[in-house]
Amino acid sequence: MSQRYRAVKGTRDLFPPESERFANAEAAARRVFGSYGYGEVRTPCLESTELFERSVGETTDIVHKEMYTFKDRKGRSLTLRPENTAGVVRAVIENGLTAGPLPLRLWYAGPQFRYERPQAGRYREFRQIGAELFGAASPAGEVEILTMLFDFLGALGFKSLSVAVNSVGTAASREASGKALRAYLESRSSSFGEDDRRKLSENPLRLFDSRDPAVRGALEGSPRTLDFLDDDSRQHHEEVRRLLTRASIPFRDEPSLVRGLDYYTRTVFEVVSADLGAQDAILGGGRYDNLVESLGGPPLPAIGFAIGEDRLVQAAPRPSPAASLLLILPQGPEDLEEALGLARELRVAFPGAVEVDLLARGFKKGMARGNTLFEEASARGLDREKIFAVLLGARERGAETVSVKRLASGEQEMVPRGEVVRWFEGRA
Ligand code: HAM
Repeated sequence: MSQRYRAVKGTRDLFPPESERFANAEAAARRVFGSYGYGEVRTPCLESTELFERSVGETTDIVHKEMYTFKDRKGRSLTLRPENTAGVVRAVIENGLTAGPLPLRLWYAGPQFRYERPQAGRYREFRQIGAELFGAASPAGEVEILTMLFDFLGALGFKSLSVAVNSVGTAASREASGKALRAYLESRSSSFGEDDRRKLSENPLRLFDSRDPAVRGALEGSPRTLDFLDDDSRQHHEEVRRLLTRASIPFRDEPSLVRGLDYYTRTVFEVVSADLGAQDAILGGGRYDNLVESLGGPPLPAIGFAIGEDRLVQAAPRPSPAASLLLILPQGPEDLEEALGLARELRVAFPGAVEVDLLARGFKKGMARGNTLFEEASARGLDREKIFAVLLGARERGAETVSVKRLASGEQEMVPRGEVVRWFEGRA
């Protein structure tokens, strides 16, 4: 027996209609982000390991235990990107785009890789759609990014989402709040697991990401990043909140939000959907005013977000596609040429799919296949009245007609060959 191959754990294959939902989300991103002046950037999936250590942070879960890291044949340590911001920043610096014109607006969609425990909505290869805005230090940057995000979510049919917002301040204020948190938790950490103890000593703010009830309990009443903000960061935060209210962006304060990556400064945000069982975040983002400089570029403030596309598609409302489905059934091989020609005419005239039974199995078998397609198409919400079979056989050829059958009712009528396209107008 030959070996049966399986997709690697935590990865999956996508077929229609699911693959189409991903494509639709990406098309909406292109349209909405494009209307804000964002252009698409594509960066490699492979980057040097050090890039992520220096940006996402060595003590974060992502770098500590979730990266796919390996040595290439020359012994260089490479990593399959666990997120896209670091790669975009690297590319912006490397290609001299920090010199302007500013602000620089970029968006992306692509696969990311994290060695996490797979479960619903969590994969080892998953896709993100994201955007990064460089060169806007003021709260206007937050407003543009969040307005664009909500326009995008609105375009996909989401209605009642709100964004959780917090500020983690500057590197100095993060350091101060981390110290205070460590002092607060030290006496309460006896029941923490080994990994959370490591975080307590190396990077206490990361404990806010923990799902362990013991840690969550201990964090109740603990100091928060907001208690340690410097005056400028506090003012920035108040201005962000004021402008979001004016822009009618639905947000709420979430003082325990710190996000699982170390590059953030000041504003951080996240959207969680109740539609996802585990209450996982659909998207997250924030400001990272020091990252460009710390990766070797000039000082350049930046802000962005990334949406988990798999979770987005899972939680998104399903609009019913308006397109039609026409199935052309040649009775025998001699009707195939005519069927192919007619299909081409109809495809030019109509949206939706026109499929030819290339096996020319005859009407009976062809209709059996048609009924299966009909069931599938109605299951994905296609309008049942817009599903037709077009029959081409000896009788039709002789009379220079085609027979059109509505799959919903089974009704059939003869239509002159020269009028088929017109007949479908308003029907398909
Ligand atoms: P992140 O919060 O690590 O942020 O990831 C963003 C989103 O990616 C998450 O909210 C989630 O929806 C999705 N995601 C993460 N891990 C998985 C997984 N294993 N399976 C499925 N979806 C997942 C970032 O990546 C930052 N680069 C966001 C950013 C951009 N900040 C500024 N600019």
